[in-house]
Amino acid sequence: MITLKDGNIPSREEAAKKSKGLEGIVAAQTGISHIDGINGRLYYRGIDINDLAANSTFEETTALLWYGKLPTKGQLERFQQKFADNRLIPNDVISILLSLPKKTSPMGVLRTAVSVMATYDPDEGDNSLEANVNKSIRLTASMPTVVAAWNRIRNGLWPVTPSKTLSHAANFLYMLTDRVPTETEAKVLDTALILHADHGLNASTFAARITASTLSNLHSSITSAIGTLKGPLHGGANEQVMRMLLEIGDVDRVEQYLRGMFAAKKKIMGFGHRVYKADDPRAAWLQKLSREISESTNNMRWYQMSERIREIVQEKTSLPINVDFYSASLYYTLNIPIDLFTPIFAISRVAGWTAHVYEQYSDNRLIRPESEYIGPMNVPYVPISERE
Ligand code: CMC
Repeated sequence: MITLKDGNIPSREEAAKKSKGLEGIVAAQTGISHIDGINGRLYYRGIDINDLAANSTFEETTALLWYGKLPTKGQLERFQQKFADNRLIPNDVISILLSLPKKTSPMGVLRTAVSVMATYDPDEGDNSLEANVNKSIRLTASMPTVVAAWNRIRNGLWPVTPSKTLSHAANFLYMLTDRVPTETEAKVLDTALILHADHGLNASTFAARITASTLSNLHSSITSAIGTLKGPLHGGANEQVMRMLLEIGDVDRVEQYLRGMFAAKKKIMGFGHRVYKADDPRAAWLQKLSREISESTNNMRWYQMSERIREIVQEKTSLPINVDFYSASLYYTLNIPIDLFTPIFAISRVAGWTAHVYEQYSDNRLIRPESEYIGPMNVPYVPISERE
């Protein structure tokens, strides 16, 4: 039974009005991650995101999300090895990428490739937990390969074969550029991946769980999630933040630009959140990473502009800053093409999506809410010859 947060069961009309966008509705129980929106805290399996960002790696965090606790040294080594062994994508998938129009968005490519990769997965017909973990390892390990391969293909370059020794984050940067990244670059991306790995019942995770609740398979759930993450109100916001920074162009123009945005009542990307009332704790990390990478590359332009935007927006409004704000200047300063920002979100969030799919299967009930019909009734069927 779905209830409102105050515990009441609302009438249909009340429910539809109160819960537009399902705000305040608790639609699932989860042991994977917890957002304390009032105090701006986030926990994965009970561990504070600040501790994970400071000490963990993306691979270790993924193991935490999937298995419920931090792996031992031996478990982690075996887990990392499995990741490294499953990075290649089938040649047929490369052929499909080669056949796509070059203008296809990387998120569109990723959605298509994940859907197609179901066909090549040896465990496709098996929905057991063991098979789903194997599928998740293959998917999580190979999604960065799809994104990097697409970026090379669309630029007329041959994809770079994934490394078997680099970390997940370092290997992604390596496949993008055909250059082993510096330790700082790899560490910065690794931390960004940890920060994006899970986030309660966000829109794409909900989409994954809805698909899983029909007992459709894991690849279908992740395909639904990718399509949902793509939108500019969700994962697509990081790309929009960068487009805003480019449009502004200079720190001196920030104030005037924002004045226009406020006057036109337009949304400023990278601000606002359904759950956080305080700043998103991930934003503080991304701010730090963005500053570090900007300093180390001697390119403070986008970071400084971001700082000025934040100052003004938070002076004029009570909007909290969200995860997508500083990731924009961070990725751009790392020389990552803008339309790969959301795919980077996806190659991290797949860890959380898959964990939620296991959780959904483990105690499943079809997710099927109701709507309140507000259209006309008893409308006569007019034969086509009599219609105007
Ligand atoms: N800039 C200006 N005003 C805003 C913003 C913003 N970024 N966000 C919310 N508001 C205003 C909004 O106009 C509305 O005002 P009013 O009540 O006067 O009409 C009020 O705040 C409530 O906004 P809402 O859109 O109804 O709130 P929501 O909970 O439905 O939406 C949100 C949350 C994240 C979609 C929204 O804040 C937004 O569109 N932000 C910009 C896009 C963005 O940064 N998205 C990334 C979200 S975090 C990462 C993720 O989960 O993917």
